[in-house]
Amino acid sequence: MVKMLRCIVVLTALVVSAHGLDNGLALTPPMGWMSWERFRCNIDCKNQPNDCIGEKLFMDMADRMVEDGFKDAGYEYVNIDDCWDLKERDSAGKLQADPDRFPSGIKKLADYVHSRGLKLGIYNDFGTKTCGGYPGSLGHLEVDAKTFAEWGVDMLKMDGCYADVKTMPQGYSNMTKALNATGRPILFSCSWPDYERASKIQPDYKLIAKNCNIWRNYIDIQDSWDSVLKIIDYYAQEQDTLAAVSAPGSFNDPDMLIIGDFSLSVEQAKAQMAMWSILAAPMLMSNDLRTISPEFREILLNKEVIKINQDPSGKMGKRVMQDGDVEVWTKSLDLWEEHAVTYLNRGDSNQRVSLQLKNIGFDYILGYEVRDILNHIEIGHREREGNFTVTVPAKGAYMIYAYPSE
Ligand code: GLA
Repeated sequence: MVKMLRCIVVLTALVVSAHGLDNGLALTPPMGWMSWERFRCNIDCKNQPNDCIGEKLFMDMADRMVEDGFKDAGYEYVNIDDCWDLKERDSAGKLQADPDRFPSGIKKLADYVHSRGLKLGIYNDFGTKTCGGYPGSLGHLEVDAKTFAEWGVDMLKMDGCYADVKTMPQGYSNMTKALNATGRPILFSCSWPDYERASKIQPDYKLIAKNCNIWRNYIDIQDSWDSVLKIIDYYAQEQDTLAAVSAPGSFNDPDMLIIGDFSLSVEQAKAQMAMWSILAAPMLMSNDLRTISPEFREILLNKEVIKINQDPSGKMGKRVMQDGDVEVWTKSLDLWEEHAVTYLNRGDSNQRVSLQLKNIGFDYILGYEVRDILNHIEIGHREREGNFTVTVPAKGAYMIYAYPSE
């Protein structure tokens, strides 16, 4: 019975599913690592050779991703953010990596990252300068797209500092064309809706999804729990608009994972993981994988939670209940009547939460098998009616996965 119903639902979904940017990439949210939140624009490789934006940092992270289980868990992209290049283009008008910090050049770095079975991402800016003051791509879109393709780059984050926001819909679409024209599949991450929002312009998300694989909607994440909550607030406020465009090939990007950095506790880190998972957010870590402590590594490697993030439906979960400090976010998964739920507790004390599963969209009459996937605990069979009670840790989260009982 469960199998037959699943079959019917999958076939219907195949017929109606909407696709975003049609470059075959990001069919599920991209996973990887990105330099910005942790390493910022540190270009002092003389005094801080391990922590500066230079080839060593990206090679080290690629090594850790392969050797410490991140690649096996699905993390794939190693992304260079701002401050990688010289302040001047070369005589042919091309961007050039800073030779002191990237002595082998970006192409060699891409070769190295590829040799480890991973992919390389890079950063530029739609305007005249990057946010950090490095050369922008305005007037150079084609040449920059070609340069990145020649170097073997696999992902591009295009920022929007020093630009006329009104020209972004056309300009970013031109970059999409320029990237497609290179013939190299390059995952395209756009910051365009974030700049529109900041200028009080309503983003045209249909157009954005047609042109970008992922896009930032909101302010930069900082290394703090408050920053994580602020981003979640924005996603809740805009959830209908944002969920409508989340699909294979096109995802909203609430910014990097800061798990394993200086500020989040273990429970808060679990909460960021559980929320980014239910939101179908890109899982781009910005931390130091060489020194991260085992409890945080374990959270990032939680395959059960990653599986929800990588659900083939590409759906973004939504907040369906809010009671005091606790909120409940749900996502129905690709397979019929499979669900994930994240309970988020913003308060200072643990909270007992009781609800009926049928009130949060669980419709299967024979009930569900339920697992606590943040802690890998089998909860067992639960009816859709009857109280389902959990304890959500203070300033933390609880997450379940449920599938229909046979
Ligand atoms: C902006 C972006 C950040 C980062 C910096 C780099 O603030 O939103 O993610 O790329 O620029 O300067």
